[in-house]
Amino acid sequence: MKAYSQGVAIIGSGAAVPSQTLTNEELSKIVDTSDDWITSRTGIQTRNLANETESLSQIAAQAAEQALTMAGITAAEVDLIILATSTPDDLFGSACQIQNLIGAKKAVAFDVTAACSGFIFGLITASQFIRTGVYQNILVIGGDILSRWVDWGDRTTCILFGDGAGAVVLQAQTDRDNLLGFEMCSDGTQNGCLNLGFDGKNQYLNSELAVTKGSYQPITMNGKEVYRFAVAKVPEIIEKALYRANLSTDDIDWLLLHQANQRILDAVAKRLKIPPEKVLANLNKYGNTSAASIPIALDEAVREGKIKAGDIIAASGFGAGLTWGAAVFRWK
Ligand code: COA
Repeated sequence: MKAYSQGVAIIGSGAAVPSQTLTNEELSKIVDTSDDWITSRTGIQTRNLANETESLSQIAAQAAEQALTMAGITAAEVDLIILATSTPDDLFGSACQIQNLIGAKKAVAFDVTAACSGFIFGLITASQFIRTGVYQNILVIGGDILSRWVDWGDRTTCILFGDGAGAVVLQAQTDRDNLLGFEMCSDGTQNGCLNLGFDGKNQYLNSELAVTKGSYQPITMNGKEVYRFAVAKVPEIIEKALYRANLSTDDIDWLLLHQANQRILDAVAKRLKIPPEKVLANLNKYGNTSAASIPIALDEAVREGKIKAGDIIAASGFGAGLTWGAAVFRWK
């Protein structure tokens, strides 16, 4: 294979959420909480939840099709599909189901798992395939249906999450590279802060030999630790990505953070001295949609006409792992 250098441009976006909504008011009839508590501690007001007729592959395919339309390319032109998710419909991966649904016949498709950092990690992974000249058109999708794995009796976690999917199209360019800088980090020593772990028991196949049978258990989280981690690490990694891009915070048009909690968004922006009007936020409407939150917020801001061609966006995802990452890019 010929190895040559190409630049990356992000040329289309899309988003989709399931049709059911759950407001804080309705949630307060399910667990002991209140609209006032959730709004003041998180900024979340409502979220969308998938029922059994809706799959991750379906909403991800909807988001992908919108992104392709905006990019002005067909599914047949897609070389690679990366699905960032922690909640595939199939534990073997859901990217190939999406490939089939959208008819991206020539694309190779696989899943990436990095929780709420998944979209940023997927975007950076995809850009490597473009920069090395291997692929021309790549779909990066972030999607999650965390409602399947939330304990709906645990008020400390169930109030936070919502379901959805967002997608972008990356395209190879010969005259520019709009991925200006990036950085990724992991800290496995803090793995116990946020988990969706498998729990199983021995099933004996004969008197000596056992296999483990069980299932994944609902999300557990040390909210305070995760909060502290996000507020400390996210500003730091954005500064590193900016440094790699040879830019400063003043050059940023938009701060696009994983939509976990309005207080985290505010604290990170304050530390970076970025004014509130440059901070993209829509978590009041969707809650924390994990790998989907960044592309959903990006797509919304693009379609509302806030983000314009040439704008510089500093995006950062953070979450279970623990993992965190940042990408500074120019739109279109
Ligand atoms: N409704 C009402 N009260 C609640 C509640 C709820 N949904 N959840 C917790 N409480 C109570 C607690 O029991 C506690 O009561 P106590 O003081 O009588 O013990 C009180 O509210 C304060 O709880 P605390 O856990 O200290 O709240 P907090 O200010 O830390 O906010 C989070 C909790 C989860 C909102 C916050 O820690 C957070 O956002 N963390 C980051 C989580 C995150 O973003 N995770 C995903 C990352 S990808």
